[in-house]
Amino acid sequence: MKIAFVTSEAVPFAKTGGLADVAGALPIELAALDCDIKVFMPKYYSVNESNFELKPLPEIGELFLRIAGTDYSVRVFSGYYPNTDIEIYFIDCPHFFHRHHLYTNDPDEGERFILFSKAVIETIQRLRWAPDILHCNDWQTGLIPLLLKDNYSWDRLFEKTSSVFTIHNIAYQGLFPHRILEAAEIKVAHLSPGGPVEHLGHLSFLKTGITFSDVINTVSETYAKEILTAEYGAGMQMTLNTVKDRLYGILNGVDYSIWNPETDRYIPYHYSIEDLSGKLKNKEYLVNKLNLSFRKDIPLIGIISRLADQKGFDLLTSSLVSLINLDAQWIILGAGERRYEDLFRSMAYNFSNKVSVNIGYDNELAHLIEAGADMFLMPSRYEPCGLNQIYSLKYGTVPIVRKTGGLADTVQDWNEHNSYGKDTGNGFSFVDYSGYALVNAVERAIFDFHNRPVWPKIQHNGMTKDYSWKKSAEKYLLLYETARKIKEER
Ligand code: ADP
Ligand code: GLC
Repeated sequence: MKIAFVTSEAVPFAKTGGLADVAGALPIELAALDCDIKVFMPKYYSVNESNFELKPLPEIGELFLRIAGTDYSVRVFSGYYPNTDIEIYFIDCPHFFHRHHLYTNDPDEGERFILFSKAVIETIQRLRWAPDILHCNDWQTGLIPLLLKDNYSWDRLFEKTSSVFTIHNIAYQGLFPHRILEAAEIKVAHLSPGGPVEHLGHLSFLKTGITFSDVINTVSETYAKEILTAEYGAGMQMTLNTVKDRLYGILNGVDYSIWNPETDRYIPYHYSIEDLSGKLKNKEYLVNKLNLSFRKDIPLIGIISRLADQKGFDLLTSSLVSLINLDAQWIILGAGERRYEDLFRSMAYNFSNKVSVNIGYDNELAHLIEAGADMFLMPSRYEPCGLNQIYSLKYGTVPIVRKTGGLADTVQDWNEHNSYGKDTGNGFSFVDYSGYALVNAVERAIFDFHNRPVWPKIQHNGMTKDYSWKKSAEKYLLLYETARKIKEER
């Protein structure tokens, strides 16, 4: 099967969050299942020839794309996923993509991803390569299924191409004012109130992806159900309910060649389920590095996160006093909303013996925290999948999570899952979005940390769980087959 996988970020080329982890791993697994796969993403400033082996593609030459009356020159570079023969094509248009951040609040944010979407389609045309599936991810690629059905439908190359749209986060909807319609050359009729691209008086790239794709999926089974409700649908629930017979949930996997305590290249002491002694050494190394005292007898709780409301930081804020009073140490790594950055900075200032706060993005430290912490906290308001709790399971770092989305699908509460002969608990979870429930879950975890026969069992249950991509990639193959059938029937 031929698959064009379109993404706005991918490890190791550019990353702001979990989408990059997914885009860095799923294509490799699909190739192992005999798919012919090509990946497409923007060539950001940070993706350059000195970091990666890239070459310009003379056979594609220069593309000229007209966006809102201006012609932009686009070149295409190609490279490979490290140590594989999987090709990735970078759309190069410095005017749009050489910015400080991958995503911006600039007034031409919509135009940036219109250009990207059209350039992907026109690159495929010039390659004369007819994909069976165009797999789009998140709002940045949401116009592609529509462009394929309307603007480029004249091209027989795409006659058999079905589209799949993966929602990694329903709250990011790519909402832009009406003028964007003209820039994208989309039919005016589509924007009528309640029409297929209109949302809250704007054009939504996300809604466009949902309404025009042959199948839609999201990144866990629970989140696929949650987003049909008003509580989790972020206003898109009506639209999603109209396509619910074509909406699926497939849990993300983990790339264990990167996230594995036995081989992790960033941690000083490797360890495994048979011998966890390296974990304690990593804890000592980590706390020394961050100027906390080394305390074997109390748990070290890690947080690695975008500092955004989604991740439950308002809850954490409201229960800060109770949490700080618990007998534990904390290491927080994150960047995002200013108010949370400031709050954590003041927390570190006031409780420097208990808390280490690291504002910024630091991949190496993220690995060290996974390896050195005893517990990992993720109290998300909503979580489409979440990757850090799955990494934590593998590292014997017991996750404490709110029971929602992918967190509910991967973390089983120790107390809930260990009565009546069941023995599968691998973490701690709470349901109510309340400070009380959060503190209670952390207290339960701390209690069991001191309960020696129990704690290693919880770690063991997590470390033996297999969330490798293979199973999920097989589900994507079935999803692609479904997309092809649906397209044939339409
Ligand atoms: P989301 O994509 O919503 O941010 P995920 O749990 O799916 O959440 O993925 C987050 C990814 O980004 C993980 O690989 C995590 O380790 C990484 N990450 C998040 N914040 C940071 C940070 N400040 N420094 C390093 N890595 C981070
Ligand atoms: C989004 C979600 C996160 C998910 C990631 C990868 O960023 O917030 O839960 O794991 O996408 O699918």
